[in-house]
Amino acid sequence: MSERFETHPSDVLVIGAGGAGLRAAIEASAKGARTALVCKSLLGKAHTVMAEGGIAAALAHVDAQDSWQTHFRDTMRGGGMLNHWRMAQLHAQEAPDRVRELEQWGAVFDRTRDGRILQRPFGGHTYRRLAHVGDRTGLEMIRTLQDKGVHQGIDVYMECTVTHLLRDGDRVVGAFGYWRESGRFVVFPAKAVVLATGGIGKAWSVTSNSWEYTADGHALAYRAGAELIDMEFVQFHPTGMVWPPGVRGILVTEAVRAEGGILRNSKGERFMWRYLPEEKRPDFSKDEAQAKEWLADHIAGRSPDFKKRPPELSTRDNVARAIYTENREGRGSPHGGVFLDVSYLPAEHVVKKLPSMYHQFKDLADVDITKEPMEVGPTCHYAMGGVRVDPDSGKSTVPGLFAAGEVSGGMHGANRLGGNSLSDLLVFGRRAGLGAAEAAGKAPAPKIDADATAAAERELLAFFANTGEDPYAIHHDLQEAMQALVGIFRTQEDLEKSVGKLEELRARASRARVTGSRLYNPGWHLAFDLRNMIDAAEMVARAALERQESRGAHSRLDFPKADPAFGKVNISIRRRDGGMEVVRTALPAMPEEMRKLFEEKK
Ligand code: FUM
Repeated sequence: MSERFETHPSDVLVIGAGGAGLRAAIEASAKGARTALVCKSLLGKAHTVMAEGGIAAALAHVDAQDSWQTHFRDTMRGGGMLNHWRMAQLHAQEAPDRVRELEQWGAVFDRTRDGRILQRPFGGHTYRRLAHVGDRTGLEMIRTLQDKGVHQGIDVYMECTVTHLLRDGDRVVGAFGYWRESGRFVVFPAKAVVLATGGIGKAWSVTSNSWEYTADGHALAYRAGAELIDMEFVQFHPTGMVWPPGVRGILVTEAVRAEGGILRNSKGERFMWRYLPEEKRPDFSKDEAQAKEWLADHIAGRSPDFKKRPPELSTRDNVARAIYTENREGRGSPHGGVFLDVSYLPAEHVVKKLPSMYHQFKDLADVDITKEPMEVGPTCHYAMGGVRVDPDSGKSTVPGLFAAGEVSGGMHGANRLGGNSLSDLLVFGRRAGLGAAEAAGKAPAPKIDADATAAAERELLAFFANTGEDPYAIHHDLQEAMQALVGIFRTQEDLEKSVGKLEELRARASRARVTGSRLYNPGWHLAFDLRNMIDAAEMVARAALERQESRGAHSRLDFPKADPAFGKVNISIRRRDGGMEVVRTALPAMPEEMRKLFEEKK
């Protein structure tokens, strides 16, 4: 191997240090693998912290009827029955242990009166299931995992962007990247690599994702030849800030609605009633009274009847569509959202349960949420689609490559339930860490191909010789195109337009001009990130074209109903002969004993 590059060998290399990456690294290291963890940002700065409202796990602390079987059913139904049944099963069965383990490692959860972990309701969950720390659950989870990981002796490499996976034949044997500060290149040879890079939200203009989420892992896996599934399903969280412009998209946690937040349009109507399935709203005035009863019970710590849940706790896909529709039909708020109101609740309840939201609105929008409503609207939050993995081990379809968390696909099907992300990260982060450590134990020493590292170096340096446009202008156009053409509602015409636009953007990105030196140069970083985002955006657009139906977060105005034939397939994407191959693949068959769980419920 060329010794021109700084080199850090390991048995298991984990790329990404959010919840999934940290949990994978902890597990691999606990199994005796020498483990390296690389992250693009500072350790602890991860989109995981944006899962504010809680971790879904059937602990049954506040609603004793809860069980893994109900959690499994809720997850599958929320996902339009497109989830990989085995992932949904493992997730529901193992989430309680992962939460208890997190507590043993130092996470301080809110408590019930008798001292157990408190749980709150969330959209699509039958029972109150989300273990939480006020509205800062993701932050507490990251703090705990980080502490555990660092003390366990994981080698952490911060502010380092991975740009290429390195292969020996078909096998992934490490990664190539650069230090963000110095621009110097670095090689990480490894016997197994776990991708845990998170999402793709920065390809849209209104997003809860911060600058790191540029689809790196999705693109790395694609270029390494891995199969990706479900890329058409992008979650628009119903409630992001809409005003002032500089904070548009910042998340307003679903916990606001769980703690009694009511959504109203500009006419003062509680519009969510209109968007529930017919059978769930037989009588508005009775329903309103029942929702009040539900809330009074919840606040007083009594067990509320889940059948009386407020309409705001519908699944995210439904609430996002409703808010979008209220705006399209002229009943939106002044800045293109709707009103979310907790000001009718006791101020101390609001400040105790939603401390971050209280400060966020006070500091960023000069709004006191204990006295006035918030203005909120949908924000691109989460990719359901990603690398196809073996549910038990996190293995991708490429030898030596594993994936966990948002970069992987299958767990959430067509739509993720809130709170199922933090539990997903813990359950499948652990499993991918185990899988990678086991694979590393059997793998030969990695052989790094000097030609591959030299080619990666040339590719990255080529931007300095370019004479095209500023990468920021190209990024702006990409975000506008995805927001307008591949958003909450889609049509064939828009999607076809987006594919054409992406081709044009790809050509422009290849000529993007970078000025200055390699020393901390965000323009250069973005020039390469653009390739990743454009690859992922094309996967979303092409998969969305292929799925000619509406299901979960994928709403086609030209195919407004779910089609049972599409309920049996994933849309799979692979790189083939330099192009993007899009095919339908059969959904893994659910065994009889799991299918029975749906019949029993009926
Ligand atoms: O609304 C929220 O607190 C987000 C949670 C999640 O995405 O799981």
